Amino acid sequence: MPDSDAGLKMPEIHDHYTDRHTEADRLVTTLKGRLELQRLQDLLLEHLPTAPAQIADVGGGPGTHAAWLGKLGHDVVLLDPVERHIDQARAAGINAVVGDARQLPWDNESKDVVLMAGPMYHLTEPSERRVAVREAARVLRPDGLLAVIAINRNANLIGSTLANTLQERREVVEDILNDGFSFENERMAQTTYHTVAQLRSEIAPFVDRVRMYGLTGPGGWLTVVIDAHFNGVSLPDSMEDPDPLETALACSRLADQQPALVHASSLLLAIGKRA
Ligand SMILES: C[S@@+](CC[C@H](N)C(=O)[O-])C[C@H]1O[C@@H](n2cnc3c(N)ncnc32)[C@H](O)[C@@H]1O
Repeated sequence: MPDSDAGLKMPEIHDHYTDRHTEADRLVTTLKGRLELQRLQDLLLEHLPTAPAQIADVGGGPGTHAAWLGKLGHDVVLLDPVERHIDQARAAGINAVVGDARQLPWDNESKDVVLMAGPMYHLTEPSERRVAVREAARVLRPDGLLAVIAINRNANLIGSTLANTLQERREVVEDILNDGFSFENERMAQTTYHTVAQLRSEIAPFVDRVRMYGLTGPGGWLTVVIDAHFNGVSLPDSMEDPDPLETALACSRLADQQPALVHASSLLLAIGKRA
């Protein structure tokens, strides 16, 4: 697929990430982003094969994860439909191609790992997500690792309450709780929110031994409060010391031992081996 055609297939995603939202610094400037990044790295390190592995970062955005994986010695290629992200990734020295998770430009069984942190929530039709997971499985070697991130359907209710925006966002929150989607959700590009069972059922046909993690975990809600109410403002002493990021990490690591607490995480991470 020529580079220029691939990005144009998703105009809403393209406009959101080109004109309305800057993805490049999300994982370093917000406390929630820093927690997400640290947790993803910790959990991936538990599962990644020895370097150098062939890794595809599908929906890799500007390339934060791809850059880290490359530094670990892996051979990484990033794919994303947004040209701005591809330019940013290439500027960071990452091998990056414009494309779509539903039509991966790689050979069957050519990758050891596929990371998909984006397409599962931006593809809003179940049939589209099925194609994307099937594509990931197609390019994975037998026993290759699939790691998928989804956004928890509960996240808007809890997050809006803690940010004290629930009353203005009530309609959106209700839609998402009921249907996993809202047409009024203007803050995000087209986005689907998963239940834990739904995410498991969408990847289970292609993946064995699925491990489901609360990526940000219950500790993530501390970071939501700080980002929402103390953005650019000094934290009170009690919230600054000890470091709230360490507190959030400790909470979410403890919660990993309690399967019921996966449901209390805003982001879900499913990891499994190609069936
Ligand atoms: C919130 S960003 C996440 C970026 C990065 N993976 C991360 O975890 O920080 C979601 C990404 O998914 C990409 N995306 C959306 N739909 C996609 C699709 N159908 N195929 C591939 N990538 C897609 C977007 O362009 C965007 O870069």
